[in-house]
Amino acid sequence: MKNSRRDFLKIAALTGAGLAGTGMIGCSRGAKNPNPFPVTHKQMFNMSGYAAPRLDVVRVGIVGLGNRGTGTVSRLASIEGVEIKALCDLEPERVKISADLISHLGHKPDFYSGNENEWKKMCERKDLDLIAIVTPWDTHTPMCVYAMENDKHAYTELPAATTIEECWQLVETSERTRKHCIQMSANNLGGMGAVLLNMVREGFFGELIHAEGCYIHDLLLDFNFTKTMYHNMWRLNENIGRHGNLYPQHGLVPVIQLLDINYGDKMDYLVSVSSNDFMMNETAKKLAAEDDFWEEFVDREFRGNMNVTVFRTVKGRSIVMQHDVTSPRPRGGRLFSGTKGIYQSGPDRIATSHTGWVSDEEFNSLVEKYTPEIVKRFNELNRLAESVDRGGHSYYRTSPTDWRIIDCLRNGLPMDLDVYEAAVSSAATPLSVWSVANRSNSVDVPDFTSGAWQTNKRALDIGLEGGGGTTRLI
Ligand SMILES: NC(=O)c1ccc[n+]([C@@H]2O[C@H](COP(=O)([O-])OP(=O)(O)OC[C@H]3O[C@@H](n4cnc5c(N)ncnc54)[C@H](O)[C@@H]3O)[C@@H](O)[C@H]2O)c1
Repeated sequence: MKNSRRDFLKIAALTGAGLAGTGMIGCSRGAKNPNPFPVTHKQMFNMSGYAAPRLDVVRVGIVGLGNRGTGTVSRLASIEGVEIKALCDLEPERVKISADLISHLGHKPDFYSGNENEWKKMCERKDLDLIAIVTPWDTHTPMCVYAMENDKHAYTELPAATTIEECWQLVETSERTRKHCIQMSANNLGGMGAVLLNMVREGFFGELIHAEGCYIHDLLLDFNFTKTMYHNMWRLNENIGRHGNLYPQHGLVPVIQLLDINYGDKMDYLVSVSSNDFMMNETAKKLAAEDDFWEEFVDREFRGNMNVTVFRTVKGRSIVMQHDVTSPRPRGGRLFSGTKGIYQSGPDRIATSHTGWVSDEEFNSLVEKYTPEIVKRFNELNRLAESVDRGGHSYYRTSPTDWRIIDCLRNGLPMDLDVYEAAVSSAATPLSVWSVANRSNSVDVPDFTSGAWQTNKRALDIGLEGGGGTTRLI
């Protein structure tokens, strides 16, 4: 089998457990050490609730200007007080395209391009406050760490880290430098997520017992097996050589926030099961029959198509996270249940007894009643911005997450999305890989807060009680 040794070594490296710990050498049955990732870290400084010195203007550099990065440029440029001062991509034309997108807003960024280390020069500049990282997965931690070491806040696309060692690197660097490390993913800062978080906090669902989320998104042909949609086949290569939950954050972060993980509760352990690959190798073979380009992907160790990972928290709550990016099914949603009720998405619905869902009318009045201040303020700012002529570019607008990050920096407020959330949600991947490789044995989830979860105060000030909400949209 071609490349099988390379794929095998990748699994060993990614689990961090070496060959003896992977369960792939004939000893996969029976109990395993549930804690193969020993912790020696002592918290240097608690970044939970930390407010960095306030900034009137947030001077930004952005690296990675592909599918997502061009949107990042536009979203950040749509927020008052943001100055896009530097743009970086391996491909010079991508830098130019992004700069052109925001030139009408007065941004005149410097260009960094041409080799894979140009982003370092951007991080080393003295006149930047925030580095946004929108590159392939394996570059996120090195770029975040370098940015923080150079006195910049780091804002990274998901996953913030790909190994347990990288998760600790982020935590240690953020604590030592007192720079924020913010991971972008779905969360409860806006829209229905914020309404539900408010309902949970107000006790509508009683005590939460269980939550489910997923990344179920058919990317087989549209993304993974395309030559030109993304940089250097990184997406397809990420699906080779390991089995686990490869992209948990979009489903997991909203649940982490609903369950008060890192501030009141903590992940205890997880178990993970992966199916076989039924689709990716078949697709590689089919494409290779027509085009030699795909030959190197035939008979590789493709990830099992469906992964199911189950977590238990120390308070005894359960979480189910699924990952499937190949099978032809509609995109997945989420669910959570408590002692007094249940929420399920797709379409959004709520029940407070086993007899059925509340009516549309009742649902809408609950949404109205529980819509928190942060959503009202963001919607109002959007409405005001829409009334302003932006020379035909009003479609840019921003997301509640980008807006809130900049608003917190400009108001000197604690960051809602902190390094511990980035670390614990990123750790789910290497931990699930370890569990799958060890016949789904359980594995402890490291406590990245080093015990501070017991006393940390809640983040996500959705009521804007601590202030903020003052940054306009452009
Ligand atoms: N939050 C979301 O909803 C969301 C949506 C899509 C993608 N993403 C994430 O965004 C990230 C990027 O995904 P994408 O689809 O834009 O990928 P992409 O391949 O389209 O873009 C990546 C870009 O990074 C550049 N790049 C790679 N290495 C570089 C280096 N060393 N220096 C400078 N530039 C470099 C490439 O040239 C490319 O333009 C991924 O982490 C992905 O998971 C998040």
